[in-house]
Amino acid sequence: MRDNYLEDYFTFLRFPSVSTDEKYAGKVRECAEWLSEKLDAIGLDSKVVLTRGHPIVWARNEHRAGRPTVLLYGHYDVQPPDPLELWDSPPFEPVLKDGYVFARGATDNKGQILSHIIGIQETLQKNGDLPVNIDLVVEGEEEVGSQNLGKFLTENRDALKCDVVLVSDTGMVAPRTPTISYGLRGVAGLEVKVSGAKMDLHSGIFGGAVANPAAALSKLLASLHDGNGRVAVPGFYDDVVPLQDWEREAWKNLPIDPDAEMLNETQAPSLFGEAGFSTLERIWARPTAEINGMGSGYQGPGTKTVLPSHAIAKLTFRLVPNQKADVIVDLVKKHLQKNLPPGVTLEMQSGHHGPWYLTNPNSKFGKAAQRALKKAFNKDPALIREGGSIPIVSDFRNILGVETLLLGLALANCRAHSPNENFPLENLDAGIRMNQAVLQELAC
Ligand code: BES
Ligand code: MN
Repeated sequence: MRDNYLEDYFTFLRFPSVSTDEKYAGKVRECAEWLSEKLDAIGLDSKVVLTRGHPIVWARNEHRAGRPTVLLYGHYDVQPPDPLELWDSPPFEPVLKDGYVFARGATDNKGQILSHIIGIQETLQKNGDLPVNIDLVVEGEEEVGSQNLGKFLTENRDALKCDVVLVSDTGMVAPRTPTISYGLRGVAGLEVKVSGAKMDLHSGIFGGAVANPAAALSKLLASLHDGNGRVAVPGFYDDVVPLQDWEREAWKNLPIDPDAEMLNETQAPSLFGEAGFSTLERIWARPTAEINGMGSGYQGPGTKTVLPSHAIAKLTFRLVPNQKADVIVDLVKKHLQKNLPPGVTLEMQSGHHGPWYLTNPNSKFGKAAQRALKKAFNKDPALIREGGSIPIVSDFRNILGVETLLLGLALANCRAHSPNENFPLENLDAGIRMNQAVLQELAC
């Protein structure tokens, strides 16, 4: 069995299904087609649903009255592999080393969704049936904000009627420690462009007489935070719900040393963040303003005495309950406009966004998931929130009217979105056991 699924895993990973870059569109499509054939082959009824963007793979078993329906969601698209030179082996040529598979998507999300698929495959082989009705929805646009999945959910609302959604696209607090994430942060993007002269200028002839857009943008970006790591945009925290006492206590008692692990994993010289909050509180329950990229002027070797004509920055904001993306983006736009230095103009373009999510880990289905994880891992699950975002999860609530169980298999050192992304086969195995235990418990 293992050889069999390793082959499937490697085939899945070999597709460079990068959703953000048009040049991979054909490969994204091939990946969807392969996956759909795989799902047919294990005995589900699968189809590739075309969208305005990348296709959605939708598969189901025969639904029968009298048993619950579970919507299993994942994504087959991946983040770009760049920078390529930092990979020890090519990102789309998976290798197995010391029990870990290295490739883009190994964890996020191909390894995790495949463990569910193999779990289903094994159950079907053994029993000829699953304990629940299943709808499996695997999309190709999660890493670009799931632009077309909401429409798919709306259009197929009746066919997708279900009792609960199951997603493995989040983290485990520690190896072999089952983890339920009952919260996600949201995300909102904003691109900023500061412009001055029509063209780059000689800094000796014009410097001092014309504003420098790079300097102006630096000032603007610096105005986003105060010296204590707090976001300095007026009103930014107005809607933030403080985290609850039970969460603060529970997170203190997790079997991890977050600061040491974070330092070790990032190799940053020290940790830094909003004063008054622990590392876990900062990433799981506090909003942030991040500069994801910036550019201006001459970047080549040596020097070039130039006054750049413009400067750009790409920003994203991680949001927590009850912040709203459009409100936050408006506040930031006003703040930047107000703080714009003289002599330049400012253009701003908001980007994709996705809402935060918070659910009750002790609901009926939450309890079933807790029992299943205990069975699959022989250990009580940790209950946490996450700093990352899965935009569609709030649509499952708003469009389909159901809650989502986030049962992640990603380790802290999985290098998702980074070079040398990896996933231990141990977690693939655990995911298979977890899938079988969860479907069993949800059926009760
Ligand atoms: N699997 C992640 C989400 C995630 C990351 C959950 C870390 C928990 C911890 C997902 O594939 C992802 O990367 N989402 C993007 C969404 C964005 C592009 C809209 C993210 O969080 O940046
Ligand atoms: Mn991701």
